Amino acid sequence: MTYADVYNGWKNDPEAFWMEAAEAVDWIKKPSRALFAEDAPIYEWFKDGVVNACYNAVDRHVENGRGEQAAIIYDSPVTDTKETISFTDLQSRVSLLAGGLVAKGVVAGDRVIIYMSMTPDALVAMLACSRIGAVHSVVFGGFAANELATRIEDATPKAIIASSCGIEPGRIVEYKPLLDDAIELSAHKPEFCVVKQREQARASMIEGRDYDWDAFQEGVSAADCVPLAGDHPAYILYTSGTTGQPKGVVRPTAGHIVALNWTMKNVYGVNPGEVFWAASDVGWVVGHSYICFGPLFHGNTTVVFEGKPVGTPDAGTFWRVMEEYKVTSFFTAPTAFRAIKRVDSKGEFLKKYDISSVRALFLAGERADPDTIVWAQDHMKIPVIDHWWQTELGYPAIANPFGIELQDVKLGSPALPMPGYEMAILDDDGKPLPAGELGAIVAKLPLPPGTFNTLWNAEDRFRKSYLDAFPGYYETGDAGYIDDDGYLYIMARTDDVINVAGHRLSTGGMEEVLASHPDVAECAVIGVSDQLKGQLPMGFVCLNADADRDAADVCKECVKLVREKIGPVAAFKLVTVVDRLPKTRSGKILRGTMVSIADAKPYKMPATIDDPAILDEIKVALGTLGYPAKT
Ligand code: COA
Ligand code: AMP
Repeated sequence: MTYADVYNGWKNDPEAFWMEAAEAVDWIKKPSRALFAEDAPIYEWFKDGVVNACYNAVDRHVENGRGEQAAIIYDSPVTDTKETISFTDLQSRVSLLAGGLVAKGVVAGDRVIIYMSMTPDALVAMLACSRIGAVHSVVFGGFAANELATRIEDATPKAIIASSCGIEPGRIVEYKPLLDDAIELSAHKPEFCVVKQREQARASMIEGRDYDWDAFQEGVSAADCVPLAGDHPAYILYTSGTTGQPKGVVRPTAGHIVALNWTMKNVYGVNPGEVFWAASDVGWVVGHSYICFGPLFHGNTTVVFEGKPVGTPDAGTFWRVMEEYKVTSFFTAPTAFRAIKRVDSKGEFLKKYDISSVRALFLAGERADPDTIVWAQDHMKIPVIDHWWQTELGYPAIANPFGIELQDVKLGSPALPMPGYEMAILDDDGKPLPAGELGAIVAKLPLPPGTFNTLWNAEDRFRKSYLDAFPGYYETGDAGYIDDDGYLYIMARTDDVINVAGHRLSTGGMEEVLASHPDVAECAVIGVSDQLKGQLPMGFVCLNADADRDAADVCKECVKLVREKIGPVAAFKLVTVVDRLPKTRSGKILRGTMVSIADAKPYKMPATIDDPAILDEIKVALGTLGYPAKT
């Protein structure tokens, strides 16, 4: 079948397409149909089916003869550990942890927050929740206590499962004190916590609230998979929006299984039994979909890698892992390749390893710059596939369907829509724009199975953020254009979200933190281009008239504050004090113009600017931060 056959097959009969994809799933009760549109524009998929995600990820493979196959390969250069876990072993670990949760009263629908480092235990915790229908919400370890507290308040979990620490190159990040602070800060308190003690930093426990991971499971009965309705929320994953309050993306169970399973073969081109590796973190959607669930649903071996592309111990670490485990398909963010290229531009490390098992490299999470793609193509000598998706969508919407039929690669474009997606470019009034014209990127409703269907506890915000602006369409928040061949080009965000090393962050959230500094009168945070991380946040702060402070001291305090309140992952290190911010006459800060100046891009003097002279002051301030950067 060609890509055109598959795409048109879906377009002509979406219902039949998704019902056929659903055949690959083991149902407790098959759904009577795929789409439930009664509450449009809120859509449900496979709602009357009964299913269990953990059963599809683990148990069915044991029953179907894959018990001895590796389910998870853990490779941790930062702790010098390697471990292989078979599907049988995974089944027993997951059902025991699930048994512990059940013994403590966790039932289907209860929320469980998971705050863990990149170890197989994080996957065990996610799967244990899925097994009993508990709605997990994984929080990335690089977020600070305050961010964790926000998520605890919103998700109101019955339990929290945490690692005692995470390991970053050169330092151990103790998670448990962050967890304790977060619980202290939150109005909602979990009934109990389960802590996996890692030997690099053992956590102190609070009697009566905290349980040791191993002791917690002793003597409990293993829990079975619980039958769940197709629309049961599998998980909540918080992602950055325009404000500091993150959006809790809700993923219904049945669509999640059907769609991820479909992508493994059709997008990524892997067969059951092969080794799939996504070098990301379980705290992100890539980790949910392609470290944990997707490969396991499909009977693949997944690699859990605890390290960085460089420095753990060197720029050859990715190639070593590919060779050692015969990885067939590899997925990461372009920033990881930029990091490798920066220290090993000639690819000397690659020459030491045999990566012939790898059939394709997939890049997503941020714009894949042509230089990086070409470098990867030249050195790896395999197709390099840029593909586009979002936390909200859960899996690739725009891709080059490697598993169906590889299409021409056009540098700078993640290529073509996958079945389920009909994309359009609209102007501000919602009018479709012709090929080549820049506008808001939208997808025609309904979104396909496996995408989100609401925001946790915030249906109004869901409608406002995604559905209201362009009735009949999902608003992606990205701007771009479609060319004459139907290829999509992603150019920018239309909101205050930036992308730092493939991590989605809110500049609005950072502004809220800076505004809380007692000497700051007003502030602006913008995303400026960075050769390694794609974008970096940059802050401009105006001090209160009566603040008799040294500007450098305030800047240091601002950096510390963002690290404390949001976390190191924000990579907020560039900040300067200015007298005034450039604004329109109606008082809107001209962030876009500031970005253009910082990135040395041409810009038009905004007609509505209040005082053009302020831009000269901004240029001087940027100069002190080394911007525009020399390339
Ligand atoms: N727990 C605690 N801290 C963490 C963390 C975690 N799980 N993950 C990152 N951090 C910290 C880092 O130590 C760093 O702190 P520092 O300011 O003290 O150095 C900060 O958060 C920023 O981390 P990161 O963005 O990862 O930058 P880095 O300089 O450590 O590494 C790259 C840069 C490019 C190597 C790295 O970002 C990378 O490998 N990215 C791969 C792509 C990826 O994972 N994308 C996710 C979506 S697909
Ligand atoms: P996240 O929800 O963290 O996956 O971030 C999604 C956002 O990352 C998208 O809305 C885009 O802005 C950006 N993004 C993801 N993949 C790509 C890509 N292949 N090209 C350009 N931008 C991308």
